[in-house]
Amino acid sequence: MQLMHMRKSAHAWKNFQNETRAIPCFTTLFSRAGIQYALDRHNSKPNVGIERDGMKLDTLKTLYTNELRDLYNAEGQLLKALPKMAKAASSEELKDAFGKHLEQTKSHVERLEEVFEDIGEKPKGKTCRAMKGLVEEGSEILQEDGEESVIDAGIIVAAQKVEHYEIAGYGSVRTFAQLLGKDRSAELLQTTLEEESEANELLNKLAEDIVNPEALMEPELVGASSRR
Ligand SMILES: [Fe+2]
Ligand SMILES: [Fe+2]
Repeated sequence: MQLMHMRKSAHAWKNFQNETRAIPCFTTLFSRAGIQYALDRHNSKPNVGIERDGMKLDTLKTLYTNELRDLYNAEGQLLKALPKMAKAASSEELKDAFGKHLEQTKSHVERLEEVFEDIGEKPKGKTCRAMKGLVEEGSEILQEDGEESVIDAGIIVAAQKVEHYEIAGYGSVRTFAQLLGKDRSAELLQTTLEEESEANELLNKLAEDIVNPEALMEPELVGASSRR
């Protein structure tokens, strides 16, 4: 019975990881109607728009710039958060994965600076409240005491939430760059998008390799199963 429960737990974890792989990014969710709407607004340059942080969102380029600023700030927050996640992880592979992604994140910042340049804007961030929340939530796990593999599983969940946010953001700005005819920027943003997806895949793999399903079970069930 307990053995069956253990197998079920491992199976459920695998299923969850497979499901997260299947989550589509914003681009695939961004309907044709939505793109047409954005283009119509871009072409007609209406006088009304939504005010956000002093930027009137009345053209696609303004929305693009706004989203780039959000990502620029989000990446800056991650430059500080990733070393803390690496330090808190117990698994050497997980530590290495965060170290590698930190180096990639530095490139993400540099690419965004090039993308800003391409539209004649100075690189500037705008507080990404979503990333602030994700990092804050993740830091709660870093302060917890407990079983190493359970803590590592919690850190992986926090990191995957971050990667999914970035995937959605980069999928969107890559599409906007294409729509605005900024081919070089679209390529740069696509490269970053691929690195974010690869990081997410690596976390999926690490979750399967290093997270011991026994550690995720209630202690009394583990005891009962080892007595069998
Ligand atoms: Fe990034
Ligand atoms: Fe990332």
